[in-house]
Amino acid sequence: MYIGIISAMKEEIQAVLEILDLEKQQVKGMRTYYIGTLAGKKVVLVFSRWGKVASATTATQLINDFEIDEILFTGVAGAIHDEISIGDILIGRALFQHDMNASPMVRKFEVPLLNKTYFETDSDRREKLLVSGEKFLTEIGTIISEDTLKDFNISLPKIILADIASGDQFISTQKQSETIRKGLPSVRCVEMEGAAVAQVCFEYKIPFSIIRTISDNANSNAHVDFPRFANVVASKYALGILSNYLSTV
Ligand code: ADE
Repeated sequence: MYIGIISAMKEEIQAVLEILDLEKQQVKGMRTYYIGTLAGKKVVLVFSRWGKVASATTATQLINDFEIDEILFTGVAGAIHDEISIGDILIGRALFQHDMNASPMVRKFEVPLLNKTYFETDSDRREKLLVSGEKFLTEIGTIISEDTLKDFNISLPKIILADIASGDQFISTQKQSETIRKGLPSVRCVEMEGAAVAQVCFEYKIPFSIIRTISDNANSNAHVDFPRFANVVASKYALGILSNYLSTV
């Protein structure tokens, strides 16, 4: 059996590929699936591209074509709560689709025919990820330079378990953030894939985990230096947390 690792950032996949003991790779539906060993575990690694359709199709292909017993999803996210800062790590608890609204047929945010407004991650695995992320953060000074952390205003980054909302929108105005905060008050960050992968994993009964590094505050500065953040910060986070996690399972 394999652990499926999906990332929405090609920079993160690139960083993991550098330490992956690659056995073979297969191209399907415009995605490359890298099969190999990472930290002693058999994994299939894939870049999902962005958005709910892209990530749901990738997760479905991964589950159907490889023997996957769990999925880990990594990527970046925008903070929509004061207590969350750039550089923090959010481990997903409940995953909502903030752009789902089939009311009045069903409740706002409810995924039609599933009678669910959110999908929960696996509790044992998220606890392990919290420990893996804590370990990464205690070592961050030896992994990312002081200047880089300063450039992105990252000081004392923390890791928390949090509810996450996904939708097919890059959130870049206060108004958009406010709308999501009002509708889904427990949510701490926004991204574009997690809840889609969560729905697929729920339907196939595959345990899943979502790891998000906060890259922006989901406001008008949200796009600033995004590629550089992915290269010099997010990819280091993904590599560090995944390696720590895989060595515990
Ligand atoms: N991923 C990273 N930042 C985001 C944002 N502001 N909105 C949606 N997805 C994101």
